[in-house]
Amino acid sequence: MATLVTGGAGYIGSHTTVALHDAGRDVVVLDDFSNASRAVIDPIRRLTRPDLPVVEGDVGDPDVLDAVFGEHRIDSVVHFAARKSVAESVRDPLGYYRSNLGSTIALAAAAIDRGVRRLVFSSSATVYGSTSALPVTEDSPTVPESPYGETKLMGERILSGAAAASGPTAVMLRYFNPVGAHPSGLIGEDPSGEPANLVPRIMQVATGRLERLDVYGADYSTADGTAVRDYVHVMDLAEGHLAALDVDIAPASSRVYNLGTGSGTTVLQVLAVAGEAVGRPIPYEMAGRRPGDVEASWADCTRAREELGWQARRSLPEMLADHWNFTHHHPAGDGSQSG
Ligand code: UD1
Repeated sequence: MATLVTGGAGYIGSHTTVALHDAGRDVVVLDDFSNASRAVIDPIRRLTRPDLPVVEGDVGDPDVLDAVFGEHRIDSVVHFAARKSVAESVRDPLGYYRSNLGSTIALAAAAIDRGVRRLVFSSSATVYGSTSALPVTEDSPTVPESPYGETKLMGERILSGAAAASGPTAVMLRYFNPVGAHPSGLIGEDPSGEPANLVPRIMQVATGRLERLDVYGADYSTADGTAVRDYVHVMDLAEGHLAALDVDIAPASSRVYNLGTGSGTTVLQVLAVAGEAVGRPIPYEMAGRRPGDVEASWADCTRAREELGWQARRSLPEMLADHWNFTHHHPAGDGSQSG
């Protein structure tokens, strides 16, 4: 029996595909390559097996799903495929609702129809409200502040409702801030277009594509005045999916888990560690706050540790060294992904 990984050519999806393969699972990748390069197929196959099934198609298309479930014996699904830009979702809310919710509904229906027992959903810490007490637990209030965040929360609800009604189990993984790459440097994050996230932007400064990093906000009530986040290695996240596929949960129920390290790092601290990874200081300038940003966010990962037996193991220096290793070898964005 195989695990279907939708969005398996994307950033977290590709690392999860490799982690599942390493754990001895059969994987089928489904991706429409709308936000990932086809050039990533070769490195994924090098890290897994030369004949790893990679299906090109839209997860929201019932005919595509029929063909995938008809051709492969699938007993579990990890669902990454989604549009994921906060800013784009504000400009095109209906597009985000149609795409992210439509595909999740189509996938859940097909999976239940075919007797899939376990659904794992790629969610995000973005579902939490900006006023949550710290650290953020799974019971903190959920108040998404963008259409993208709404689609993540609604995606969780769609899957938990479908699980309750029809028998499979659903596991929602709320990622904090993913950073890093596979240690081989073969796969990693290579955003198409102008990246918005901190570490991809730092990498652009390191490769000379950007002159300097604007630090968004120096007047927060934090150790050095810059905002705090919980950065977590993408390989740790990938391994979290493996644990989520195996965790013992009663049929027809669902469970939410935070995946982070449980500790926060400021923007200036990330810059300092990135400078060490790259081998020279990263030029930066203090700028105003970015609208919509929260001051600080980090996870309480007790539930994941106790129930999934999962804990982030990789350090911030390892995250930045691996991220840089990938960027350094793929400066022009050849064979990588952003999903
Ligand atoms: C952002 C998204 C979140 C999404 C996550 C994916 C927003 C408001 N939130 O989270 O929904 O799930 O990415 O990883 O867009 N920073 C700078 N300079 C930069 C870029 C970022 O100082 O050029 C700062 C930001 O102000 C923030 C921190 O770095 O304090 C991290 O930013 P980012 O990587 O964009 O992540 P989030 O804002 O946490």
